[in-house]
Amino acid sequence: HRHLTGIEGLQPHEILFLLDEAEQWVEANRSRAPGDRRLDGITQINAFFENSTRTLLSFEIAGKRLGADVVNMHAAQSSVKKGETLIDTAVTLNAMRADVIVIRHSASGAVKLIAGKVDCPVLNAGDGWHEHPTQALLDALTIRRRTGAIAHRKVVICGDILHSRVARSNILALTTLAAEVRVVAPSTLMPAEIERMGVTPFTDFDAALEGAEVVMMLRLQNERMNGGFIPSTREYHMRYGLTSERLKRAAPGALVMHPGPMNRGVEITSEVADDLERSAITEQVEMGVAVRMACLDVLTRRSLGVEGWA
Ligand code: CP
Repeated sequence: HRHLTGIEGLQPHEILFLLDEAEQWVEANRSRAPGDRRLDGITQINAFFENSTRTLLSFEIAGKRLGADVVNMHAAQSSVKKGETLIDTAVTLNAMRADVIVIRHSASGAVKLIAGKVDCPVLNAGDGWHEHPTQALLDALTIRRRTGAIAHRKVVICGDILHSRVARSNILALTTLAAEVRVVAPSTLMPAEIERMGVTPFTDFDAALEGAEVVMMLRLQNERMNGGFIPSTREYHMRYGLTSERLKRAAPGALVMHPGPMNRGVEITSEVADDLERSAITEQVEMGVAVRMACLDVLTRRSLGVEGWA
């Protein structure tokens, strides 16, 4: 089976294929067209070992809109709490004859580990600091729809780059699609390997914003800092918070994005987040359903006897 464990390794035509597949579901969802039940007979298990609002619900809605039988496993209410291992949990889900498994886990690499233990496609819904591929796809779709193209767009990604799987997957997707990516973080929150990632690193947000066409803000991932340096939120806001004043440095009409959940008043002010002319934040959520419909459809085609994703 083919899995979607990350953006890493995907070719530009494969990413564009998934975005093109998602386009049809944007329109279908908006018009509330009678359901296309192409996943009828498919059992989809969403196994979430970490909290989620957007990703869990949009994967559930995506599967149901296409007719799949969707069941959710919340780790907090499962036998994981009794000490069951990740692999034993995966083997258990597999024995129930899941046709596709969607996994979120706090450990980087957990999704790839499970993909090697089960007999069905596995989709990564976010694993530790590693990747969040469907987030990058929905972000790319949002940028393409709102600005007309991804290639050569000047995109700024600002925040806790070090701990962010969203940043990693977005850097991979956007650079693969030939965007010009600038990443901004305090030096303590910038990955050591950033120089090898095909992006331009900045510690000065104002300098990075000059001429930016897309500004993507990230949350401080305090839950992943394990006693490491956590900046004071006031100081962080002063240097790295997106305000209306600061946004004036970007290109006229620059698009503002945030994967959510937001910490209002820290990395972004409410004035910017709620400005519907500039902010695509709720549209990102909408694109999330369409992208996840496309990914579920494409990855399960082989289970349904239809030629799979090549
Ligand atoms: N963007 C994102 O992954 O949000 P959730 O953690 O709510 O799923």
